[in-house]
Formats: sequence, C-alpha cells, structure tokens
Amino acid sequence: MLPKYIPLWPERASTVAGHVDALYVFLIAISVFFTVIVFSMVIGFSVRYRRSRNPIATQIEGSNVLEIFWTVVPLAIAMVIFAWAAVLFFHLERAPKDAMQIYVTGKQWMWKIQHPSGNREINALHIPVNTNIHLTMISQDVIHDFFVPEFRVKHDVLPNRYTELWFNATKTGTYHIFCAEYCGTKHSGMIGEVVVMEPAQYQAWLAGGTGGSLSQQGEKLFTQYGCITCHSGQAGARGPDLAGVYGSQVHLADGRAVAADDNYVRESILSPQAKIVTGYGPIMPTFAGQINEENLIALIAYVKSKAGDKPAAGANAPATAVPQKTGATTK
Ligand code: CUA
Repeated sequence: MLPKYIPLWPERASTVAGHVDALYVFLIAISVFFTVIVFSMVIGFSVRYRRSRNPIATQIEGSNVLEIFWTVVPLAIAMVIFAWAAVLFFHLERAPKDAMQIYVTGKQWMWKIQHPSGNREINALHIPVNTNIHLTMISQDVIHDFFVPEFRVKHDVLPNRYTELWFNATKTGTYHIFCAEYCGTKHSGMIGEVVVMEPAQYQAWLAGGTGGSLSQQGEKLFTQYGCITCHSGQAGARGPDLAGVYGSQVHLADGRAVAADDNYVRESILSPQAKIVTGYGPIMPTFAGQINEENLIALIAYVKSKAGDKPAAGANAPATAVPQKTGATTK
C-alpha cells in the first residue's frame, strides 16, 4: 500500500499495521493540504494587497455561502476521520474469539509472560506467526503500557484490573516491546522482545517448558491455598462449586447478575465480600497480599479450565434456588 523505501515508519509486521498507517497518512495529508493553503494565501495576499498598491482598505460584509462552505467541508472531513478511526478502534479493541490466550504481568521494571502451556518467560514473548494472539495484562505495581511499534498496538497495563490487547503477527522475526507509560527510574529499561516463529519452531520452543500447564499450576495452588476445602464441588460445600462458572452469568445475593470473567475471578479471590453468590454467606477470607499476580493468573486459568465442567448434583445453589442460610460461604 505505502512505499517501503520511505523509512518514516517502523516495519509493518501485523495485520493491523497497514490500516493504522493508512489512517495516519490520511491525517498527515489533510494537515499538509490545509497548511499549504493557509500559508500560500497569507503570502499571496500580503504581496497582492501590499500597502503601496492598495492604500485604502475596503470593508466586506459577511457571506453566507462562504460561511456554510467552510463549516460544512471541515465537518465532513472530521466525520470521515471519526468514522474511519472508530471502525479501526473497534477492530483493535475486540479480540477474535479464537485467539491464543497469553498473560502478561508488568512490574517495575520487567514484563513477565505466562503461556497456557505453562511456559513462562521474562522480557520475551514467543509466538507463532499468522496467529491471533490475545494478551490479558495486569500490573503488580504502577501503570505500565505494553507497546510493540512494529505491530502498531499499544495498551495500558493497570494495577487491579485486567486489560486486553490482541494482534496477529504477519512476519517472523524479533520485535521490540516497550513500556510506553512513565513508571519510575528504570522505565526506559522496561523493554523486551516479541519473537515471532514458524508454527513448527514455536511447538519446539513450547516443548522446552516444564512444570505442567498454566491450569495445572493453578490446580496445585488451589490445593496449596486451601481453596479446595470450601470449593470442593461436593453437595453441602461451604463455597460454590467452580465447575462451569467461568464464562457464565453468576447470580449474586443482591440480585445482580455478573459475567464470570478474569476480572470477576480475580476480585472474588482478593475481595471476596465484593460480590456474594446467591445462596452463600460472606465468610470467605481475603487473599489480598498473599497471592501474587502470576499465581492469580494460574488460578484463573484453573477456574477457566473448569468452564466446560458440569457442577456436581446439589453442589451449587442455582440462581432460582432458595438461598440456604446454613454456614454457607462466599464465592
Ligand atoms: Cu513500565 Cu514504563
């Protein structure tokens, strides 16, 4: 689309890069066009109407035609920019459903990556080429920002909330990860690289990992932190069975229904009192400060892995059931 030999942009290495650049070029072209018009008129008129030739100024009354023209034309241009940018924005913000899930934790001053396979890495992200990659990101301290210029994608990484980013790398190679939000003295050193590989190479790289998949790591933590004591999945358990919870609508004691996504599961571990599941009492202790972000991600992966499971008979109070008040627990 755009000539390669003009080195104004970093390499275009993702499916969206060309679209982002095209919009950018359009914005620059409009700016240049109007800058040229304004400045050539300033210069042209100051020569043509210089004082030695036109000693007396003539007063001109307003012109409706002119007023309408220079209101409607800029409005139309602004609307084109708005519509174009909005379409692109929604495309960038909505990850395709089939995307590969990878978790990113930002901290002063490094990027920690967790793959569903259980592989972990620091300041490096290995991915297969031509594959939709969906990053779920969180910070364990201040605000960071995950930025890969060659992919033209960038998103803030916040404490206490998962944010998302997706891309599809179209060329194998190594690309820079930058932190694009000032986050302290070593902000400029908070860098890393995305290594885009052929699928076969990627499989070989994955095979180098050990310690079980991310959800298996989460299952271990689930036992280690004693979650399993209450969330045993058995009838009469003090906490809800987590089978089939992820991705569903959870009915709360206060009448609300919320989507059980990553943020919901994380909040339920750290602030169990925030959302009490119908039929259970607010008795779960908080795990804030006891489980780090990476282990939270592993626990979420475990809960997610149970999304397709059916709750054991009688294990959960369904939305329609009458709340049982007997020593029940929170989510
Ligand atoms: Cu992290 Cu700047």
